[in-house]
Amino acid sequence: MKCYNAYENGNMKEILGETLRPGGFSLTDKSVQFCRLEPKDAVLDLGCGMGATVGHLYLRYRIKAVGVDPSEKLIGYAKEKYGFADFVIGTGENIPFSEDSFNCVFSECTLSLMEDTDAALKEIFRVLKRGGWLVISDVYAKNPGLVKGMGGIPFNTSMRGLHDLKYLEEQLKIAGFNIMHFEDCSGLLKSLMAQVVFSYGSMGAFWNKVTDNCEDVCKFQEILKACKPGYFLMITRKGDSDYE
Ligand SMILES: C[S@@+](CC[C@H](N)C(=O)[O-])C[C@H]1O[C@@H](n2cnc3c(N)ncnc32)[C@H](O)[C@@H]1O
Repeated sequence: MKCYNAYENGNMKEILGETLRPGGFSLTDKSVQFCRLEPKDAVLDLGCGMGATVGHLYLRYRIKAVGVDPSEKLIGYAKEKYGFADFVIGTGENIPFSEDSFNCVFSECTLSLMEDTDAALKEIFRVLKRGGWLVISDVYAKNPGLVKGMGGIPFNTSMRGLHDLKYLEEQLKIAGFNIMHFEDCSGLLKSLMAQVVFSYGSMGAFWNKVTDNCEDVCKFQEILKACKPGYFLMITRKGDSDYE
């Protein structure tokens, strides 16, 4: 199915700012501290969008991250704004780097957009060094049974791929990751939705804007509401638990 990438729409940036997700850099900063990342660490921002996290990691921590995203348009903005960093076109399912390249991979509100999560987790495992970190902040469904109803929605937003947390935990374990930290951050999503309603009048008006009035917006909204979306931070680590 050909999907409309809602993140390329200017209204997304207007409401979300440069970080195209809830919470700005708050969860990024928490993760840098949790993983004790340092300037010597090699970091990948998978689904970097306009490059905000890559820029932030360097300007605040002197950590040189590389950004990967499938959108030429968003990668174009990133290159223009953060000329000091590297940005490459690619997807989570096919990461354009060799094995054991990174100490940490950030997937900030992007795993939910990937067509094949298992393939993406395999790829992340491959490019991470032993003991490397995978930081996931993303949307989930408190009623995960209803998410399959989103199948035919023809625009690409994280909200179409709300995680089933139990299933994601299993997928991570099978892929070889240990979960080191979990935090429910649904308050950040709630604040963002309140901000959207304040700015656009309703969630429906917002979705119409960012999808150029796609006819499926009503159906999407109905299913979304019934799924009861939440937001989480999960920090995982590659390998057995015998690293230092
Ligand atoms: C919610 S935005 C988050 C962007 C960025 N991580 C941030 O926090 O600002 C989702 C991003 O995932 C990208 N994306 C979509 N499908 C992807 C895939 N298969 N692999 C990697 N990134 C993908 C989109 O182009 C978009 O830039």
